[in-house]
Amino acid sequence: MLVKFLGHACFYFEWKDKKFIVDPFITPNSLASEIAIDSIRVDYILITHGHEDHVADVDRIAKNNPDARLISNFEIISWFGQKGMKGHPMNHGGKYTFDFGTIKYVSAVHSSVLPDGSYGGNPGGFVLWDENTSFYIAGDTALTQDMKLIPRLCPALDFAILPVGDNFTMGYEEAILAADFIGCEKIIGCHFDTFPPIKINHDDVKSAFAEKNIDFHLPEVGEIIEL
Ligand code: NI
Ligand code: MN
Repeated sequence: MLVKFLGHACFYFEWKDKKFIVDPFITPNSLASEIAIDSIRVDYILITHGHEDHVADVDRIAKNNPDARLISNFEIISWFGQKGMKGHPMNHGGKYTFDFGTIKYVSAVHSSVLPDGSYGGNPGGFVLWDENTSFYIAGDTALTQDMKLIPRLCPALDFAILPVGDNFTMGYEEAILAADFIGCEKIIGCHFDTFPPIKINHDDVKSAFAEKNIDFHLPEVGEIIEL
């Protein structure tokens, strides 16, 4: 499958015959100025939690894609629902089989207020799978023991997208431990460089993963990764 990094924690991917965007935050991100947001076509918008740097462009993407469905926790779906957007609400530990595959909404240790101060529920991540592929999008999170449940509850992961920028989320040292907890040796880093406190030294991070023999990739904004 093809996964395109749109900056920060925002990814676009095509899976089966569906198109997805995760945590759209493009127009406020100066590092993503080359991304043509209005040409993005999606069937589903996945939202891990309510923070501005994960929902800033949900309205715009949804307006451009009136048939797209949001997938997030109950509180976030309800909040966007009040603005007329349609979505599928989930909550922690629950899974649901959609027309493309199964999604499980899993724990994240973080916070989740929405841009207007509304309660955004508890933050989460997603594990997505079908009969061939399984992958984990952690969202913003600390390293958490709950990650150890993923290999026991979901099919073996082919790859995982983990935050590595530290300060607001776990840093790369913990992401290396997370790779062990989730039993996954192919990791894509996100949530780095966007803001001064999460600027990272790419070489240090890459060599730390390499030392543990983890296939790690730090994507460039706009890069398409084949997985
Ligand atoms: Ni956040
Ligand atoms: Mn964030």
